[in-house]
Amino acid sequence: MIPGEKIKIAVSGKGGVGKTTIAGTLARLIAKDGHTVIAVDVDPAMNLKFALGIKENPAPISELKDVIFERTNAYSGSGIYKLNPKVDDVVEGYGVKGPDGVTLLVMGTIEKGGSGCTCPENAFLRSLLRHVLFKENTVIMDMEAGIEHLGRGTAKGVDLMLTVVEPGMRSVETVGRIKKLGEDIGIENMAAVINKVTDSGMVKKIETKLREMDIPLLGIIPYEHALIRADMESKAAIDVGGVAVEHIKKIKEKILGR
Ligand SMILES: Nc1ncnc2c1ncn2[C@@H]1O[C@H](COP(=O)(O)OP(=O)(O)OP(=O)(O)O)[C@@H](O)[C@H]1O
Ligand SMILES: [Mg+2]
Repeated sequence: MIPGEKIKIAVSGKGGVGKTTIAGTLARLIAKDGHTVIAVDVDPAMNLKFALGIKENPAPISELKDVIFERTNAYSGSGIYKLNPKVDDVVEGYGVKGPDGVTLLVMGTIEKGGSGCTCPENAFLRSLLRHVLFKENTVIMDMEAGIEHLGRGTAKGVDLMLTVVEPGMRSVETVGRIKKLGEDIGIENMAAVINKVTDSGMVKKIETKLREMDIPLLGIIPYEHALIRADMESKAAIDVGGVAVEHIKKIKEKILGR
């Protein structure tokens, strides 16, 4: 669909639809093809590492207070801080290398409200995300259910917003909302995959809805028990294998145009 070696994909969708599973599997599959892949966990729940098969517990970038304050020059206490802090060594320094050579970057959470100004943290994370998105590498971002926090500057770097839908109309409505939000911030390409499919009747209905919303469908992933087991054992879907992973492989081929 979007040919290119250095594609930047943001995976979104309603809660629990399979975003993390699909993001992690896509990252591993693209890395297996020999590309440099950075997997970015922007979900405060921080469970992308499991889907990548990483055992370590990487420190979230948001918790690197000293680095953030030093780089943004926020120590002065004047309330003035740098909007473009140095971030070009962060992936190397704080990313964690996992199976197939995927580098995981965990963004962490920025507490909002009540806890005072978090502007330096925000500026740092935003600069870092922008840096990663405009670098010469493939990026797979595992998003929260909403994409509201993706700013315009970041959205410009996203080549494809891949939205995961599961059978159920609430999930389809979420796709509509994400499309609208995506358009508002300047994301040009959006596509959907249907996950956890058990019957084809349901798929037809979703396909119709997606067509009405003018969202291309890149693939259908069946519901697979083995993935629940993998999750319970903290194993990556790709290390367990099965039909769902085979379907994600086909989606990857469609995305990369081969
Ligand atoms: N095709 C599938 N078949 C069966 N189970 C699946 C499938 N895809 C994902 N799952 C399971 O569904 C659960 C939720 O998946 P996942 O964590 O990837 O979703 P998510 O959208 O990232 O959730 P959250 O919104 O909480 O971040 C997990 O237990 C996962 O193993
Ligand atoms: Mg998730």
